[in-house]
Amino acid sequence: MTRQSKFLSALAGEVQAIPPVWFMRQAGRYLPEYRKLRTKAGSFLELCFNPELASEVTLQPIRRFDLDAAILFADILLIPDAMGQNLTFGEGEGPRLAPVITPENIDRFRRQDVLKTLAPVFETVRRTRAALDPTKALIGFAGAPWTVATYMLAGQSMRDPAALREWYYRDPAFLKTLIDLLSEITIDYLNAQIEAGADAVQLFDTWAGGLPWPVLNAVSVGPLNKIAQGVKKAHPETPVILFPKGVGEKAAEYAMLATCDGLSIDYGMNPAWARGYLSGHTTVQGGLDPLVVIKGGEEMKRAADNLLKIFSDVPYIFNLGHGFTPETPPENVAALVRHLRGAE
Ligand code: CP3
Repeated sequence: MTRQSKFLSALAGEVQAIPPVWFMRQAGRYLPEYRKLRTKAGSFLELCFNPELASEVTLQPIRRFDLDAAILFADILLIPDAMGQNLTFGEGEGPRLAPVITPENIDRFRRQDVLKTLAPVFETVRRTRAALDPTKALIGFAGAPWTVATYMLAGQSMRDPAALREWYYRDPAFLKTLIDLLSEITIDYLNAQIEAGADAVQLFDTWAGGLPWPVLNAVSVGPLNKIAQGVKKAHPETPVILFPKGVGEKAAEYAMLATCDGLSIDYGMNPAWARGYLSGHTTVQGGLDPLVVIKGGEEMKRAADNLLKIFSDVPYIFNLGHGFTPETPPENVAALVRHLRGAE
């Protein structure tokens, strides 16, 4: 792909005076135009499976803030839903998946034609790429197998990390079977997104934090490398970004993978450490605490300037260290983008 894009250039290793910018959860409830379309769609899932509306929602933050990259509007839990776990979102209680996956019922989840069910997602990618300015990149994504597995095993957001970690010791064969199954599906899912027009892909490992070394290696570093290899085998030019949240110094293991073109850092990481230990291996992305954008003003600008200064002489993509929350004032996001581009 020979698209002139600040975002893709940064992933290719170019140092830029003004780094490209996009935001995790840049589409979502903090935007009034999103809330309007979500109501029109009926539910979050109906929005995800409606290519016309999902594409529109993907483009909303680009129109409003002129960001350098759009991220496909979908969710990491669409894969378990397509595998046969029914996904619902209760008011204020987060996602629910039923029935939970167990060693006894896992075979039933193998048999579904996941890509066929997720075909509307690829149509969203096609429409969005066609509508997006050629200088802007379109990011496809999936959840990392471990993070998706935590939802599949608990049937909801992880409340008891020990109970999930225990699977690794209690029934390692089952956990490996589940992670391998998710890895295979994820390779096909990301390749289909790329074939539909995604310029780069990101893997979200939101629940990688707190895992001891051998467990992290088995359930996160290894599988993410395998998925990235599966993507690069089919699409050698497509950059892969990893977001292993909360892993601290173990982030270096991900950054050193030959398949890791970008490493997204969370808000808890010391950016100077990331500059010293990650930037030599990969393009670092992110780091800003999303909550400082709720505060806005000088404190937000100082936090942004700190990151710009630390990463001024290496390839860098400006982003958050996790997603925007619904309380984020869109005016503060606009002010942040103006500030990054030197206008304010
Ligand atoms: O703009 C974008 O970021 C693109 C779309 C996107 C969503 N979810 C939309 C969404 C992306 C990339 C995700 C990833 C995702 N989903 C992750 C990994 C990143 C992270 O945030 O850690 C995870 C863990 C999920 C699972 C998930 N989806 C949860 C826990 C929730 C409920 C929490 C919440 O914020 O309500 C969702 C729902 C969800 N996914 C919403 C959006 C915009 C809110 C749905 C709504 O409109 O009510």
